[in-house]
Formats: sequence, C-alpha cells, structure tokens
Amino acid sequence: MKTYTITVLAGDGIGPEITREARRVLDAAARKHGFDLRYRDALLGGCAIDAVGEPLPAETVSACKSADAVLLGAVGGPKWDALPSGERPEKGLLGIRAALGLFANLRPAIVYPALRSASPLKDDILGDGLNLLVVRELTGGIYFGQRGRDNTGGVPAAYDTERYSADEIERIVRVAFSLAAKRGKRLCSVDKANVLESSRLWREIATGLAKEYPEVALSHMYVDNAAMQLVRDPGQFDTIVTSNMFGDILSDEASQITGSIGMLPSASLSSGSLGLYEPIHGSAPDLAGKDCANPVAAILSAAMLLRYSLGEDAAAGAIEKAVDTVLETGLRTHDIAMAGDRAIGTRAMGDAILHAVTV
Ligand code: IPM
Ligand code: MG
Repeated sequence: MKTYTITVLAGDGIGPEITREARRVLDAAARKHGFDLRYRDALLGGCAIDAVGEPLPAETVSACKSADAVLLGAVGGPKWDALPSGERPEKGLLGIRAALGLFANLRPAIVYPALRSASPLKDDILGDGLNLLVVRELTGGIYFGQRGRDNTGGVPAAYDTERYSADEIERIVRVAFSLAAKRGKRLCSVDKANVLESSRLWREIATGLAKEYPEVALSHMYVDNAAMQLVRDPGQFDTIVTSNMFGDILSDEASQITGSIGMLPSASLSSGSLGLYEPIHGSAPDLAGKDCANPVAAILSAAMLLRYSLGEDAAAGAIEKAVDTVLETGLRTHDIAMAGDRAIGTRAMGDAILHAVTV
C-alpha cells in the first residue's frame, strides 16, 4: 500500500485540538481510498520556545524537509507576546515558510450555501456567492525585507522594506495564472502601483506574462480599491494574486465574508511537491482547551494536502464533500452558529465529518 509521511506541527492554542481532528479525518479518508499515512510530530512556535528555547528548531526543519507534506495548526499566544520580534512564535512560522521555499500561498474563500446567513454581507451583495482564490506571495516583500531602527537627529525611527525581484514576482504570478486557467479564468493582480515602485515592477511583469496565458483575462486593481470592492461586489473576483502583506490582509477580509475565519484553509507550495497546509486563522488562545474551536479550516487544509502534495484527489474531494454534507445537515460550531442553532464542539464536528467521509 502507498504510504506517505506527514509532519505535523500542531503549534499553540487551539492548534493541537484542530490538527487532531484533521488527522482523524485524514485517516478515515486514507482507509477508504487505499493508502496509508504516517505522522511525525515536531515543534514550532511557542511550544518550541518553551521546550527548546527557539521557535524553529533545526530538527523541525529537517522533519519537514524529509516528509511528503506538512500539516500545521497555529502558532503564537499572549504568553510569548513580550519577546523581541526575532524570538517570537511568528518568527518560527516565517522561518519554516522560508526554509521550505513555500513562496505560493493559496487561500480559497468560499461561501457555502448553507452558511449564507452567517455572512455579514447583505443577501443582494452576496449575489451568487463568493468563490475566490487569493494567491499570496509568501517568502518575499516587506515581511522578509530589511528592517531596523535608527535614531537620526535623536528621534527614534523604525523602517521595513518592501523589495521584490523580477524572479520572485514572475514565479508567483505564473502560479496564479495557471490556477486561474483551471477556475474562472479571471486573474486580478492587486498592487499599489500609483505609489510603490515595487508595485510598478509587479504590474509590468504580470502584464508581460499575460500573453502566455491567453485563456485568462488579467486585470489590475489598487489594494485600497480591492479592499472596498470585496465588500461591495465580491462576486466580481475569481482569482487574486498579490504581495505578501496585501495577501495577508485581503485574505482575512475575504474570510469574514464567508461567515467565519474558522472555515478557511490554505496551502503553501514550493516549486516541488512539498507543501505546508494550515488554517488561515490564528491560535485563538482564549478558545484553547475548551472543545469549542471550529476544526473545519484544519480539515479543509488536510484536503488541500491530499490534493496538492500527495495527488490523492479522490480522497481530497471526499473530505470536501463531507464538510458540505455536514453543513447542509445543519451542524454548526459556535463561530458559525446563528441565533437558535445549537452549537457543537470541536470533537463532535470532527466526528460528524469523519462519519460523512466513511459512508
Ligand atoms: C497568516 C498570519 C501570519 C502571516 C502571521 C501569524 C505571521 O497572519 O498566516 O496570515 O502574517 O503570514
Ligand atoms: Mg494573516
């Protein structure tokens, strides 16, 4: 039987609870579809700081590099907030993305028909719903550029640098064109080219590549306008490609349109088959250990793992369909429950999805 190795970085806060459910669902899908999964746990984030004094231990990097895929929960929490930026849990997350070369971050935002009423947008604005893919550049730009502090003239100052090379822009825009070609064939490149030089280069390169993807219609939009258009007429978007910081912000905004950030998975891909899969939400320390977090984002991330790193498309589809079925039957965790709904816990939601995968 085919056997794959998955390194699990459960992380902090609700991370361990939601990845536990994702693993159970993965196992059920593997049994049903005839392959075997082996898991290896490794430390990332606050739990790694507590255990070994650093957010990204070298063993974690090698455990990820030697795996077929990586499943991540979430990192961070108030316990580590006072640490200097270079020692924080988030540094571990940025570090593992860089160490594995995960430059392409795919963040689908879908409004499930069963959850329409959980969206804060009015029904007529939602229209036919939202099926958006945000493709976020993940290993460059201002999150990785030079930063520092100075004290010119006795006034303390701080700076961060947005710098993109043509190669970095080209590889992410190509990923986005290819994905758009398999979806709604519309790609919107989001930048701030009316102000930023890095955005002007981004726009030039995107425009130049468009000739190679004649089946995809390319448009450009400034990021401030994109933030507005997302809540004014979300249906106009199919695929968005954008920089690290703009993608971080716009994907959180898009998630809220779907009803809850607890629903959104993500895939972070390299140029090879190794990928890292994680919910886009954070570690929600206030919910940790209470069996009330929504495991759906983690479970859908596991489905993306099967599809993009293992090529087990049928098993991936079965998990996505199971999530659909469970939502249609009316089961809700707290974050997506409406007035009058009885909310269920993390484990019960995991059980329901697992059951739907098995039948
Ligand atoms: C995300 C998160 C991270 C990011 C943080 C935790 C460093 O917000 O994955 O969107 O900014 O990339
Ligand atoms: Mg974010």
